[in-house]
Amino acid sequence: MINTKDMKRAEQWKIASTAPECPGRSVHIWKLSLVKNAEEISSDILSKDEIQKAERFCFDSDRNNFVLTRTTLRNLLSRYTGVAAKELTFSYNRHGKPSLLNPGKNKALFFNVTHSKDIALFAVTRLCEIGIDIEYMRDDVKCLKLAQRFFSEQEYHGLAQLSGKALIMGFYRCWTRKEAFIKAVGSGLSFPLNSFAVNFEKDDNPKLLWVDRERFQGICNLFPVLHDEDYLASLACLGAPEQIDLYRCS
Ligand SMILES: CC(C)(COP(=O)(O)OP(=O)(O)OC[C@H]1O[C@@H](n2cnc3c(N)ncnc32)[C@H](O)[C@@H]1OP(=O)(O)O)[C@@H](O)C(=O)NCCC(=O)NCCS
Repeated sequence: MINTKDMKRAEQWKIASTAPECPGRSVHIWKLSLVKNAEEISSDILSKDEIQKAERFCFDSDRNNFVLTRTTLRNLLSRYTGVAAKELTFSYNRHGKPSLLNPGKNKALFFNVTHSKDIALFAVTRLCEIGIDIEYMRDDVKCLKLAQRFFSEQEYHGLAQLSGKALIMGFYRCWTRKEAFIKAVGSGLSFPLNSFAVNFEKDDNPKLLWVDRERFQGICNLFPVLHDEDYLASLACLGAPEQIDLYRCS
């Protein structure tokens, strides 16, 4: 069990050999290495529409990542629901957020998926809608140009005070927190990224600072999930989890 206040170090990821319980107020996060598991790729348990989606990717690496990520998602959700991985049926909201049509005899299961470069993360909970976002941090990213174009003025002006590594870190904290929020809401980019603001200070206390209340009336709690040399990831919960458990897909 990990307290939600201090869950950012990579060494906390553990291997679960059996299906872990996911009691009411907890969130489980699973990490998958897309490189280490690349040789395992098979689309056997995917649905027709998932196979069609896989076939539309131009690059083999994108196709393989999608198949591996979706297959792992099905296997994980099968452990929580007791429904065979191949039998799980997804529906999609109008912005593409997937949810489960047949979560088994247990009550609703919320999940979200993110991938960047060589890592995929899966968040699962019975508590509330969630969103997760991981980004591979590139040194050459045009932080201020992107922030000026997409973020709120407050975020842009705050980031403009920074430079070097601090700017890059601040930018990716801001980005993953914002993406996690809109993924929890499920609205995709129809929710303008400049109609709300998050803080971008160190990982201890991520926050939704303000939001256009005409667009969103609920609560949102943000959490750091992963922060190493190359990747940064954030989780958004439209509820208040009591614990967050980190697992590695074996
Ligand atoms: C689609 C979007 C929800 C996330 O896209 P992303 O960051 O490229 O991708 P991620 O890897 O984090 O998430 C993709 C997964 O989220 C899920 N997803 C798709 N649409 C979603 C939605 N509306 N809400 C929540 N989750 C969604 C799917 O499971 C998808 O996985 P799949 O592609 O294997 O089916 C959307 O927010 C987007 O297009 N963002 C673009 C980011 C951007 O340009 N930001 C500018 C900041 S500088």
